[in-house]
Amino acid sequence: MKSIGLDTSGKMIVKGPQKAKGTLTVSGAKNAVLPIMGASLLTDDDIDLRNVPDLADVRTMIEILESAGKVIERFDDQLIIKSSGNINSEIPYEPVRKMRASFNVYGPLTLRNGYAKVALPGGCSIGARPVDFHLEGLKKLGIESTIEHGFVTSKLNNPNSFINISLPFPSVGATEHVLTTACLLEGVKTTITNCAIEPEVTDLVNFLNKMGAKITGGGTSILKIEGVKKLSGVKYTIIPDRIEAGTYIILGKLVGEKLTIKNVSAEHLNSLFSVFDNIGSPVDYDEKKREVKVSETLLNPLNSISMETAPFPGFPTDLQPQITTFLSLVPGRSTITETVFKSRFYHIDELNRMGAKIRVEDNTAIIEGVNKLSGAPVEATDLRAAAALLIAGLVAEGETIISNVDHIFRGYENIHEKLEQVGIELIYEK
Ligand code: EPU
Repeated sequence: MKSIGLDTSGKMIVKGPQKAKGTLTVSGAKNAVLPIMGASLLTDDDIDLRNVPDLADVRTMIEILESAGKVIERFDDQLIIKSSGNINSEIPYEPVRKMRASFNVYGPLTLRNGYAKVALPGGCSIGARPVDFHLEGLKKLGIESTIEHGFVTSKLNNPNSFINISLPFPSVGATEHVLTTACLLEGVKTTITNCAIEPEVTDLVNFLNKMGAKITGGGTSILKIEGVKKLSGVKYTIIPDRIEAGTYIILGKLVGEKLTIKNVSAEHLNSLFSVFDNIGSPVDYDEKKREVKVSETLLNPLNSISMETAPFPGFPTDLQPQITTFLSLVPGRSTITETVFKSRFYHIDELNRMGAKIRVEDNTAIIEGVNKLSGAPVEATDLRAAAALLIAGLVAEGETIISNVDHIFRGYENIHEKLEQVGIELIYEK
């Protein structure tokens, strides 16, 4: 395996402007595969996953599953998760620090072992990310949690037979965590309202039902779960990554030259498509082939827009930094209000160093379109910020050096190689 991860602070040198010409293929969805891998802890049978991207976050989840007693085999995009016969339900700080999604093994491990001790995730460079909704939901399922010395420790009580959980916000992680745990509470009927309806949550619902769970309401904001005694092994193919697809579409709108993006699920990207409709540059999608053809659009007359991020089906926060890069080059004043992670704006200062004119007021970025960006040394603070800066570097004049770029390998499989295949030259230095 190539060495990718968060433990080095690599640099990406981008000499702009460049053009992307050829075909990019979208990989399996990071945010779908991670909770699905976590849910493998509900069974001792083999789980056989396909379309699994090779990402730093997937490797972190492999590490966690191995420390919890699973044995993992990987062949290309296939991941087989087997049981070693033992379950260890204590997960140390290191992997949880690297990736908050790892916290979602806490509920399943508690049910399998009667107890779990998992590091409490810390702060994060996209804003506050507490786990109070998770712990309150799990408490209703009979899981009492104590927080001490940075760890959450559980005690399993007998749950009621009928449980109603209403999430204060449609949190993706809390929906997935509570839902997964409720599946194995034999005979217990749980209703979760105000659920997240992101496609990745629906993929998890489909996966769990294939394992033998009894969940109804997939794709809606009310999930009903009838707990079962046992879940079984399953073969399952992960959905394509809508955020990777969206990132490459935005990249293509700035530097594409007849760029084709394959394996795109347009039904997951309506909000991005309507943003481009409003900007005046519709996305050319072939439904039969499930592919987008995209070319540079900046020479066309474009409209500035006002938009906001929101839970699905709204515009994803995970595409906010990338669309900010795009809007920084659209004439006029655009605004983006961030309603999911209200301080996810650390990329703005970096874009401004490249000549963008953006200011942040409360949770809104106010963007005055400029006619060019210029290369500069910048720093990536998280995965999507790294993607936004890489796109900016490709369209800018001169050299951009993105430090801490390794974040990008958490969410974009083989991005360096994929972009090379469409004619983009990047220099990566460890
Ligand atoms: N929140 C709470 N308490 C909780 C949980 C969430 O206050 O217990 C708040 C958060 O602080 C945030 C909002 O609820 O303001 C939404 O957070 P959510 O729980 O939905 O986010 P998440 O599950 O931690 C997942 C993705 C993120 C993506 C968000 C929103 C995974 C592994 N991660 O995070 O993906 O931004 O949903 O769609 O699924 C990324 O891929 O770059 C990424 C950050």
